[in-house]
Amino acid sequence: METTLIFLKPDAVQRGLIGSIVGRFEAKGLTFVGMKLMNVPKDLAEKHYAEHQGKPFYDGLIAFVTSSPVFVMAIRGVNAVAVCRTLIGATNGQKADPGTIRGDFGMSGGYNMIHGSDSLESAERELALWFDDGELATIDKTLDQWVY
Ligand code: PPS
Repeated sequence: METTLIFLKPDAVQRGLIGSIVGRFEAKGLTFVGMKLMNVPKDLAEKHYAEHQGKPFYDGLIAFVTSSPVFVMAIRGVNAVAVCRTLIGATNGQKADPGTIRGDFGMSGGYNMIHGSDSLESAERELALWFDDGELATIDKTLDQWVY
């Protein structure tokens, strides 16, 4: 089992896509162990995207994710990091495959609706940034027997 960090960016929240996007993870058979709507403090955004500091899109990305609320999720499942990245699709909505979240809902490279951790190491780092100790639910999910 893995747990990964996903958040819906301000464009997805403002466009009223929370339900449509969250439903895809749920329908896939993944389990939510954390969920919250929140404004992003600038220092949290800077820590989250620290590896991209200095890149041409960095300042705009920080301004974007701190501009209005995001919807944050901790999602659990077998191979959850890679499965969620597959559901999300390529960075630019115009290039993302149909059937992916970005491929189905977006046309932009910057306003690309959703973040998903890109590795298990990133997921562990990002979960610790976005959720406090003890904030995530512990679930003994008996329904797993129907999913796997
Ligand atoms: S890189 O340089 O290849 O590592 O960049 P990439 O992995 O494609 O993207 C890193 C994160 O930056 C976001 N991004 C952008 N945001 C705003 N504007 C532009 N032009 C832009 N290009 C990339 C991209 O969505 C990644 O953030 P997350 O939150 O992981 O989606």
